[in-house]
Amino acid sequence: MAMPVVDTEYLKEIDKARRDLRALISSRNCAPIMLRLAWHDAGTYDAKTKTGGPNGSIRNEEEYSHGSNNGLKKAIDWCEEVKAKHPKITYADLYQLAGVVAVEVTGGPTIDFVPGRKDSKISPKEGRLPDAKQGAAHLRDIFYRMGLTDKDIVALSGGHTLGRAHPERSGFDGPWTREPLKFDNSYFVHLTIIADTRELLKGESEGLLLLPTDKALVEDPAFRPYVELYAKDEEAFFRDYAASHKKLSELGFTPGGSKTGPKDSTVLAQSAVGVAVAAAVVILSYIYEVRKRAK
Ligand code: HEM
Repeated sequence: MAMPVVDTEYLKEIDKARRDLRALISSRNCAPIMLRLAWHDAGTYDAKTKTGGPNGSIRNEEEYSHGSNNGLKKAIDWCEEVKAKHPKITYADLYQLAGVVAVEVTGGPTIDFVPGRKDSKISPKEGRLPDAKQGAAHLRDIFYRMGLTDKDIVALSGGHTLGRAHPERSGFDGPWTREPLKFDNSYFVHLTIIADTRELLKGESEGLLLLPTDKALVEDPAFRPYVELYAKDEEAFFRDYAASHKKLSELGFTPGGSKTGPKDSTVLAQSAVGVAVAAAVVILSYIYEVRKRAK
């Protein structure tokens, strides 16, 4: 599908959709599932084959029916209400905008959003998203495939500061933090408390969830320093989270659908030709004049 043209009109629609998403997410308390939708659309990216990624393909039944996407149809339908009001905006942009707004309205950092993603109807095969029952090596396999780093893995896992697991969707149950509708660093505080007391099972008995992949973050020597930093310093978490989220939301996307970009370069090329022609005319008339005088 073609790249959307990001002109003034498109940017205006993005602004309006942003406001609609803020209202929708606040009134339905659905920030967690909107963030999960954005992440699952983007998290299929494969840097080697340049397939998957934030391209709206999660709206295809073939993809939202993948086991890892259980429950996300609801979020897709809510986004459809916004799409109906702003049909120009691509699904790919809409889902990523919903993710950015979800973090913002729950008190998280502001994430820079650049529009212009194109939609794809091609869905990747099942199995590109992480399996919560595995450990650090698996997390690296999945996130390195996207072109992301250890720091991105830890910062982005902080997305579990929002929401909860539902037994009918994933087989897991409960929230990660005491306030699952507030975006803060409590996910990491909780992780370090458990690590300090070395009672990994106690966390679960307190009613707060820890997936095997969450536990891997405190157990792995390269992940652990980030967990400790983010538990101590919320500002550092917000800064790194905003940067990693932006990266995730732009996997495989090079902003360039802007109308001003190509137009400007065309104007520049035309001006260069104009200057060259004018210079040639001046030089030729000078030679002509000199020759005339010499005769
Ligand atoms: C690191 C690997 C990850 C694994 C294995 C994982 C796994 C899971 C699982 C099993 C659930 C529960 C789903 C349910 O039962 O409803 C969940 C929920 C969630 N995940 Fe992740 N996740 C990962 C990374 C991320 C990332 C990178 C983000 C966002 C930046 C994220 C955001 C969320 C949110 C917000 C929810 C709550 C959804 C709700 O309340 O409906 N996750 N995740």
